[in-house]
Amino acid sequence: MDFVKVERGDDGVTVLTVDRQDKLNSLNPQVVEEIGQALLELQEEPPRVIIVTGAGERAFVAGADIAVMNEMSPIEAKRFAELGHAATALLDRSPVPTIAAINGFALGGGCELALACDIRIAAENALLGFPEVTLGILPGLGGTQRLPRLVGPGIAKEMIFSGRRLKAEEARMVNLVNRVVPEGEALNAARELAGEIAANGPVAVRHAKAAANKSQDVDLVSGLEYEADQFALLFATEDAREGMGAFVEKRKADFKGR
Ligand code: COA
Repeated sequence: MDFVKVERGDDGVTVLTVDRQDKLNSLNPQVVEEIGQALLELQEEPPRVIIVTGAGERAFVAGADIAVMNEMSPIEAKRFAELGHAATALLDRSPVPTIAAINGFALGGGCELALACDIRIAAENALLGFPEVTLGILPGLGGTQRLPRLVGPGIAKEMIFSGRRLKAEEARMVNLVNRVVPEGEALNAARELAGEIAANGPVAVRHAKAAANKSQDVDLVSGLEYEADQFALLFATEDAREGMGAFVEKRKADFKGR
């Protein structure tokens, strides 16, 4: 792959880096395809946590590649949106938790990539927003659908209609990012959190993610039914016996992921 690097750690944490620094890691169709391909390959032997970040100190991802979009026909634009939807679906439907380490500009498609992650950590120099309408287009890689679900329709519409960029701290105040860390620290902070998650029962974490995702798709009664089923299923795992047994025996649990 030319623009995506995948680094698998022994601790179960994998870092996927979008690396196209001369164009601030912006997304052309090849970059989006490579993100999708990398995520598909990770599904074969899933790590415990996936971190997504951008190479360099300036940008997470500064959006879809405007120069390439400028040449697209409507059919090509549809295909590009579908590519983006496929790649971002692989993130938010990934069985394992995903964390966006936002180290700089996260604009348009970059913000959409971050929105598809479960958790967002931003460096204090990060700027987040949806400038698409300033270009005469709209967020087409999931932004109009995921942003209102995350921050509510009022804030989402203000951001999308105005194209205004939010500083990291403003983004935290509207729940667009979970937390803000000093400049240069987004990846370290994401790694630290990923380490905490990776130390927990991996099957439990996967099922917890599936249940939390379900809350976005179904009514409360159906969601609670799903939760009860997932809860019950975990009682058939070795990890649940190990985790609860370790508590009772006052020792540290040794999870095997079974
Ligand atoms: N698409 C294509 N190229 C992009 C890009 C994008 N989304 N974002 C940055 N680049 C390119 C620039 O064209 C420039 O390339 P060049 O050196 O060949 O001219 C390079 O990345 C560096 O960007 P530059 O604009 O010189 O940096 P800056 O610090 O002055 O400004 C931004 C940074 C992010 C404010 C500015 O690049 C920008 O507004 N980018 C577009 C953001 C956007 O609208 N994204 C949503 C698209 S839907």
